[in-house]
Amino acid sequence: MIKVEGLYKQLGGQQVLENISFNVARGEILAVLGLSGAGKTVLLKHLIGLIRPDRGEVIINGVDIGSLSEEKLLKVRHDMGYLFQEGALYDFMDIYDNVAFPLREHTRLSKVEVAARVREVLKLVDLQGVESKIPGELSGGMKKRVGLARAIVLGAKVLLCDEPTSGLDPIRSRDISDLICHVSRQIGSTTVMTSHDVGNALRIATRLLIINECRIAAEGTARQLKESKEPFVQEFLQAATS
Ligand SMILES: Nc1ncnc2c1ncn2[C@@H]1O[C@H](COP(=O)(O)OP(=O)(O)O)[C@@H](O)[C@H]1O
Ligand SMILES: [Mg+2]
Repeated sequence: MIKVEGLYKQLGGQQVLENISFNVARGEILAVLGLSGAGKTVLLKHLIGLIRPDRGEVIINGVDIGSLSEEKLLKVRHDMGYLFQEGALYDFMDIYDNVAFPLREHTRLSKVEVAARVREVLKLVDLQGVESKIPGELSGGMKKRVGLARAIVLGAKVLLCDEPTSGLDPIRSRDISDLICHVSRQIGSTTVMTSHDVGNALRIATRLLIINECRIAAEGTARQLKESKEPFVQEFLQAATS
């Protein structure tokens, strides 16, 4: 479903990603781990064409999006949902309008159909009765849920989540992680999330990769990583989960 091959990227005169290659099979949840500033967000943005590679390929469902025109890219993005770290909700719109926004922009659904779809995704993320509130009236965890609802409202075949637990307390971090797992299964998405929340990532991801010094330092299932003999992997997992 997703294939990254030999990806290199420099930003602000420094190398951020170097020879990154990996695959994500349909229905998987891949977690991208790494220290702060390791390049997790930059990598995630490549997967939706917000950043283009200097070298290498990013193939989504058979299409190399690295060199696609903006117009064609928009089509590919139609099937992708992106949950931004900061939420990126429109502060001046109520929750209903925030979630309905992609439907109004990209589909010709009637008012009634939009309403039904908004209700459906808000139910999926376990949020009801907040339609008329504005983002400022919601807690951090609820805002993440709204962001997730908006990310999947067009039916995301590929779901990308940037630090879905950042800024949340441990209980809400666990809840939103479980929710991402649940929603991914419900909608059948192929999901990539970045995280510094190693405990939750190990719990819900089908596979993980750790980026360090621009490269993939380790890749595997939670079990494979825990059993890894690589000193960096052990140090990383221990520091992050202790
Ligand atoms: N638009 C940009 N211009 C210059 N440097 C950037 C830009 N975006 C990210 N970087 C740099 O790339 C590196 C990786 O950033 P990022 O992917 O945000 O890290 P993280 O792993 O914390 O998500 C950092 O050193 C950051 O300063
Ligand atoms: Mg980041």
